[in-house]
Amino acid sequence: MNKIPEISKEACIGCGQCTSVCIQKCLVMEEGSPSYTGKGCMGCGHCILICPADAICLKGDTPEDYKSFEKDEFKISPDLLTGFMKTRRSIRFFTDEPVSDEDLAALTEAGRYAPTSQNAQAVRYTIIRSEMDRFSDLIWKGYRIYTDSLKSTDPERYEKLRKRSDAYDKDRKDDRLLFGAKAAILISAKNNIDGGIASAYMELMAHSLGLGALYSGYSIYSIKIMEKEAQWLGIGEYAPVACLLLGHPKVEFKKIPVRNPADIVYR
Ligand SMILES: Cc1cc2nc3c(=O)[nH]c(=O)nc-3n(C[C@H](O)[C@H](O)[C@H](O)COP(=O)(O)O)c2cc1C
Repeated sequence: MNKIPEISKEACIGCGQCTSVCIQKCLVMEEGSPSYTGKGCMGCGHCILICPADAICLKGDTPEDYKSFEKDEFKISPDLLTGFMKTRRSIRFFTDEPVSDEDLAALTEAGRYAPTSQNAQAVRYTIIRSEMDRFSDLIWKGYRIYTDSLKSTDPERYEKLRKRSDAYDKDRKDDRLLFGAKAAILISAKNNIDGGIASAYMELMAHSLGLGALYSGYSIYSIKIMEKEAQWLGIGEYAPVACLLLGHPKVEFKKIPVRNPADIVYR
């Protein structure tokens, strides 16, 4: 993050709360007010969020950038949250309605607020909408290369995967890779877990927006196989982690599925 906390000695009331929440121990109390040691700040902002006197800011930000909220303002009951999560479904049938700019912005906003290791925020979102055809060509090309690579090593899987491309070759509407999605967001990241968590936040946001979303694992296989051609997607120094296919759902599920009991180990 490379942000530096700046402290206003005039505004500081010397309560020391900022130093107590600084997990990096980069703020220390000196003569009744906090001082930055000069290293280790990961820009998490916890010192700012807890300061009762608006005495700290990260360099480049203003106190107004930090929005206040009431404790109960955004509270969701566990029942509601559980129900919301259980009623999220993978959607593979989409209407012709495009995904709006507003919905795409809400999705990336959800990803942006997911936690990241060391607050690195090293996650990139490639929004594919106007170039879905080019994206589809890339994914199908990679899929075919992947399928062919299985011919001698895993003939059974080869036959299974071949059925999908055969069906697509017969009828372009029978697309069991991209399912006629109207947009896709490719999530690439420095760290797989960061990218995965951001993706999960976004999928839940899609559910909240009434959008249909589907993780496309095959798209990631293809993008990795087609590494050079896929650089068009702007992955750059990151690794592709997840691909969310998006559109307005054509199906509505009315029940919650049964899942295996959680595999829990107690110690
Ligand atoms: C990482 C990941 C990759 C997935 N890849 C695909 C895929 O390529 N094609 C597909 O049809 N579904 C894919 N899925 C969706 C799963 O099949 C789906 O989540 C699972 O069947 C459970 O259904 P639900 O999401 O509706 O609860 C993927 C899911 C995850 C988490």
